[in-house]
Amino acid sequence: MSEEGRSCPLAYRYQPERLCEDAVEVTDDVLYIVGGLYGNPYALDEIEQMALAEAHRGHRVRLVFNGDFNWFNASDELFREINNRVLDHTVSLGNVEYELAHPSAGAGCGCAYPSYVDQEVVARSNRIMERLQGVAEAHPDLGKRLSLLPRYRCLIFGGLKILVLHGDPESLAGWGLAHEAFLAGGGAGPDHWFERTGADVIASTHTCLPVLWSAEVEGRSRVAVNNGSAGMANLAGERQGLITRIARSSPTSVPVAGLNAAGLNVSLLPVRFDFDAWLADFDALWPAGSDAALSYRDRILNGTSLTAEQVRFGCAC
Ligand SMILES: [Fe+2]
Repeated sequence: MSEEGRSCPLAYRYQPERLCEDAVEVTDDVLYIVGGLYGNPYALDEIEQMALAEAHRGHRVRLVFNGDFNWFNASDELFREINNRVLDHTVSLGNVEYELAHPSAGAGCGCAYPSYVDQEVVARSNRIMERLQGVAEAHPDLGKRLSLLPRYRCLIFGGLKILVLHGDPESLAGWGLAHEAFLAGGGAGPDHWFERTGADVIASTHTCLPVLWSAEVEGRSRVAVNNGSAGMANLAGERQGLITRIARSSPTSVPVAGLNAAGLNVSLLPVRFDFDAWLADFDALWPAGSDAALSYRDRILNGTSLTAEQVRFGCAC
């Protein structure tokens, strides 16, 4: 089996103990953590509208993009639009942006897919990445901006440490905060990563299915949240994306899952983007039989097998 798309480049790795060493204080009222936009401009339109609605209620919203905002946007126009819009905000890298800015020999898509992901899916992702790298080559100004982004961010928000990363606390493309990892853990949560990072909340993405977990670790409430995908369907029979909202206040829209812990409300909010417009653009970029159509079109249309009740892990405290 080819290792391309399975392996994790050395540059992806980091030490959990160091992730919150240089935490930066932010004074906004609300954080939107946007992982996995996957090049969908209509989802970005909707997220901006959601932030505007919060602003009308007097809440200042910070948009924090934690990677993989590029993927399906394989045209010059859409590549420029997505990156120019996203880079106005607080941004850290996903493996997609890392491989656009610093292509690693043999990394393929840089997804570090685990063994349960089919080899055909991995091969198609590697080819999607090659096509996107071909587009990115024509935009060195954006490549330069991507190359300057950090791999993670630790924000001090309301006195708490919010660690925003792409994979898990050991790798940019780690699968340790994947839905599948929580299922396999049988209730043994990611406590050790809270002990090692000191974070109160760890917000991840990359693995494309949502998770909301909470528990007491070393006498403090901790939350791990994975928004799945902001730009693609996440749940059975649904077409909406999801983002993570973190605030002292509760959201006004109904979340897919939400909890209150450590004085914060952490919720997974639906992103109800213009589906027909996005599907038309997707089909034009990735027609029937193309790698992205084969891997993703069914999910874009019909969602996953996951129900909202299956998103929540840990204690109900
Ligand atoms: Fe990723």
